[in-house]
Parts: sequence; C-alpha cells; structure tokens
Amino acid sequence: MAFETLNVDIQDHVCTIKLNRPEALNALNSVLVRELCEALEEADASDKVRCIILTGSEKAFAAGADIKEMSELTYVEVFASNLFASANDRIAAIRKPIIAAVAGYALGGGCELAMLCDFIIAADNAKFGQPEINLGVTAGIGGTQRLTRFVGKSKSMDMNLTGRFMTAEEAERSGLVSRVVPAKKLMEEATGAAQKIAEKSLLTAMAVKEAVNRSYELPLNEGLLFERRVFHSMFATEDQKEGMAAFLEKREAQFRDK
Ligand code: HXC
Repeated sequence: MAFETLNVDIQDHVCTIKLNRPEALNALNSVLVRELCEALEEADASDKVRCIILTGSEKAFAAGADIKEMSELTYVEVFASNLFASANDRIAAIRKPIIAAVAGYALGGGCELAMLCDFIIAADNAKFGQPEINLGVTAGIGGTQRLTRFVGKSKSMDMNLTGRFMTAEEAERSGLVSRVVPAKKLMEEATGAAQKIAEKSLLTAMAVKEAVNRSYELPLNEGLLFERRVFHSMFATEDQKEGMAAFLEKREAQFRDK
C-alpha cells in the first residue's frame, strides 16, 4: 500500500516504517496516525514480516502531535473523538516485535510513540521530552504513565513538569532506551537487532512480547503465573522441539512457527 506520510520497506522479513513529514519534523497529524496504524496492522498480518522497525529522520523521530491541527480543537471535539485513544490501542495491540530507532527529536507524542514500541535504540543525537506543559496541556498517550514506569517518578516528574529534553546518554542511563549508537550507525544497529529477532520462532517472539508487557499490568505473583503458563505452553510447539534438538545436535535451529 502507498502512503502519503510514510515510507515502508520490507527486506529479509524486517518491515521498516519511516515517518516522512520532514516539513513538520514528523509531527503526528491525523493522516500520519491513521497511515501508521494501517501500516503496522498490515505488517502484523503479513507472512513476509517477522519484526518491525519504526523510525524517523536524522533530525526528528517525531516532534509530537501536530500542534497546528490540535490548536483549535474544543474539549467536546477531543472527548467525543477520544483523540489518540484508538491509535494507542491499535499500536499496543500489534503482536509482532516493534523496535523504535530514534534519532533527533522524540518529543511529546513522539516520545510516547517510541515508548509504545517494544524497545528503543537511540542515536547519540536523540532527544526525548514531554514538553506538553509548555503548550498548556499534559501528555496524552503515555507520557505521564509509561515514562514513569520506565524512568521512575522523580525523572518523569522532572520531564513532564519542566518540559526539558533528555539526551540519549541520560535516556540509556535511566532505562528508557536499550542502546545508544552513533547516528550514522542507527539503522545498521536496528536492522541487525531486527534480523536477530526475525531468525527466532515468531511464536516464541510474540509470547515473549506478551509476557514482558504483562509485567507492567500485573502484580508480581500474577505476572509470574502468566509467565509460567506461557512457558509451559511453548512445549506444545514444534519450534520448542526443534530449538532444543538443534542445541543438542550442535546445529542452527530451523524454526517453522509451528
Ligand atoms: C506541528 C511542528 C511541530 C509539532 C515542529 N513543527 N514541531 N508542527 N506540530 N509538534 C514544525 C514547525 O512549526 C516548523 O514548521 C518545522 O516543524 C520546523 O520546526 P522548527 O521549530 O523551525 O525547528 P527547530 O527550531 O529546529 O526546533 C525543533 C523543535 C521545535 C525543538 C522540535 O520544533 C519544537 O519545540 N516543536 C514542538 C515540540 C512539542 O511541543 N511537542 C509536543 C506537541 S504536543 P514551519 O512551517 O514553521 O517551518 C503533543 C501532545 C501529545 O505531542 C498528546 C498525545 C499524542
């Protein structure tokens, strides 16, 4: 499918979705949000895709929700349309792993979008922030909730109350991102990680994603029970037999997603 605000490329089972509104630093307008949900759902449903990378440009992953589009909206309009709720739910419902490859600005809705992905690889020029307070609003799709779980209350309050930006180095130190690499190496690193994931059993990768995400929703005992049930269920798959046989036979596993 062709998109107005995205470039989508599939190679070696990795689908790379690049946000492409350079004139507005990839601000998330309604067209982009709709197209992004469609592209992710298409990748999730495609047999050709085993891992997804979401990225932007070297200057901006995304500078937030589109302020021009939002500025005149009324409370009734944002409440009635449930602004951004369906995007949050649709992106959170994607079952295949999604890596955010972030260079430049990831602000407001841009930072929240990166946090909706499964993990974040950052370029050394990345800047993360929740500067909505400067616009007279709070964050709207995770900036006060997911960020707090990732970096703790003190840093989340600091980011949300002062609107300051976090460097890539601080973001890695705080647990918001998993790795930082030189900007020029960002896509190579993200693609390498995605290809590693794509070599695994997709069934297992999806189960890992479900189990880790549950850790944010459940008390520890319930989370551990969920994890154990998922672990036990893997023994019903051919990929478990293949993975363990391959180890014992000292060869590469050939997973078949069965
Ligand atoms: C619409 C935006 C935009 C945004 C940048 N632009 N961010 N347009 N919405 N969020 C546009 C600018 O208007 C400008 O267009 C062009 O992109 C380049 O931006 P500049 O400001 O000229 O670039 P620069 O000086 O390099 O500054 C970069 C920046 C700054 C620091 C990222 O653009 C900025 O502060 N942007 C807003 C960040 C923000 O507040 N984000 C939170 C949004 S609210 P023109 O046409 O003038 O050239 C939000 C709520 C989320 O995200 C709620 C749930 C999703």
